[in-house]
Amino acid sequence: MNNFFPLTVKELKKVTSDSVSITFDVPDNLKERFNFKEGQYITLKKEIKGENVQRAYSIWKAPYEGVLSVLVKKVENGIFSSFSNDELKQGDTIEVMAPQGNFVPELNSTQSKHYTLIAAGSGITPIFSILKQILKTETGSTIDLFYVNKTKESTIFHSELAGISSPNLTIHNLYTKESSSDSNLEGRIDKLKCKVLHSSNLLKVDSDEFYLCGPEQMIFDVKDYLVEEKVNESKIKFELFTASGSDKVEEVITDFSEAQITITIDDDDFDYTYNVDKAESILEEGINQGLDLPYSCKGGVCCTCRAKIIEGTAKMKINYALTDQEVEDGYVLTCQTVPTSPVVKVSFDD
Ligand code: FES
Repeated sequence: MNNFFPLTVKELKKVTSDSVSITFDVPDNLKERFNFKEGQYITLKKEIKGENVQRAYSIWKAPYEGVLSVLVKKVENGIFSSFSNDELKQGDTIEVMAPQGNFVPELNSTQSKHYTLIAAGSGITPIFSILKQILKTETGSTIDLFYVNKTKESTIFHSELAGISSPNLTIHNLYTKESSSDSNLEGRIDKLKCKVLHSSNLLKVDSDEFYLCGPEQMIFDVKDYLVEEKVNESKIKFELFTASGSDKVEEVITDFSEAQITITIDDDDFDYTYNVDKAESILEEGINQGLDLPYSCKGGVCCTCRAKIIEGTAKMKINYALTDQEVEDGYVLTCQTVPTSPVVKVSFDD
């Protein structure tokens, strides 16, 4: 169920000049619901200046640490990120949805793998959680972390990462606005940089699994490079914070002009008429009709708006977030979903 729960802010800590870590107090009766896996995120909801704002943020703590903390980096004109960095106080309450997300490795204490983790900027948050949980759970596994930032000063979790003393972890810090003693580690990661890192034996294309989080361009450049180097796509997992989606949009054509939509949420049913020419998605039209529906990115990259098609058919224009199994099971990202039959029932409760 995609419910929000009011959680109290237990601790606020500045991590860099423009990012803050928010730790929530999770009461005993919600502990099970807020159990999370490494790499997952939570969606936060707050009314800010009269506007209902929902945003997803990755959890940076590892599950074994048992603490629910997210990192919010201030972005230009970011309503929620500015509020979190400048106005939020300890003791305040925020509506929080239970952890979600598929950017999660399947860890097993008996396996010994090599993991390649690649992050840029605040993309480190889910990667940091994954990294710590791997080191804790799989003592025979090794990790190469490539982490791109402008400068050492602006690097999120720089000292926390430097403080991890494990022979199983190698950190490669890349700076785009600071020189390095190794010129291979200067500049952002694109296809050319992948080639350089590969040729210098830093990037291992025979790694067992790859986890990428950062800007869309970096993710797709790395993915393209790895695939060209014959890495099986199933080994490459990525988490996008935003996406243009322009290269992945599926066109949907229907032969009806209106569809009757029924939305089930919190055990209540709501009906509305969907105008095929005007409406953008089942989620958007539901919100226009006054429904309080869960969402975050509205770009098909998180799973916050996930719901199940119970009756009728519908199609997603973009899907960067659901697994093939979830799609097979009838789940959709409602922010990207349009009806392909004149009657569609969608449940946010399943
Ligand atoms: S709101 Fe993020 S995928 Fe729909």
